[in-house]
Amino acid sequence: MAKSDNINDIIDHKLFSEDDIHEMCVRLGKQLTEDYAGKKPLVVGALKGAIYFLTDLTRQMDVAHQLDFLDVSSYGDGFESSGKIKVVTDLSADVKDRDVLIVEDIVDTGLTLKYMKELIMDRGAKSVKCCALLNKEARRNTDVVVDYYGSEVGNEFVVGYGLDFLNMYRNIPYIGVLKPEVIQKYVNK
Ligand code: XMP
Ligand code: MG
Repeated sequence: MAKSDNINDIIDHKLFSEDDIHEMCVRLGKQLTEDYAGKKPLVVGALKGAIYFLTDLTRQMDVAHQLDFLDVSSYGDGFESSGKIKVVTDLSADVKDRDVLIVEDIVDTGLTLKYMKELIMDRGAKSVKCCALLNKEARRNTDVVVDYYGSEVGNEFVVGYGLDFLNMYRNIPYIGVLKPEVIQKYVNK
């Protein structure tokens, strides 16, 4: 696959438009404003996929909060979970006694989120919750709770608005389903 492939070459169809995404951010921001009133949470963006969602979501939250980032890797080969998770870039803040809100792009098997929640709780956080843009519930194989999410998605590979394939296409402004042949090209390599 050439790195110059443009959006029309790789997207099969649009799943969520920019307006759909904006509506999800407004709804979730309102809910988080109510639930975190008076708490000053530490909002933790899960790198790299959550950065687009994080900036839009937090601007809909009328709650004083601080930001931090955590990069844990789970996807060894681009589209299937390797099952092995490690911290690539750690938080800079001390989470002890903090109300922590993890912001994720998508929760799939739940392994990554479970790892992050346990890591943060083990360091003495008062609470840890997750707000994900998308929830691939059908693929879940852990008991982790996705406390807030924008929408369910089926078992298809989505890109755009932070979501990537081989660390590309994050900048597509909407969320689309990747053409199966794009994945096939990679698998057959
Ligand atoms: P787990 O399985 O640990 O995986 O819940 C979470 C991470 O997997 C990535 N992921 C995707 N990325 N389109 C993507 O661009 C998808 O359809 C998709 N499904 C899972 C994502 O990085 C997420 O943080
Ligand atoms: Mg991710």
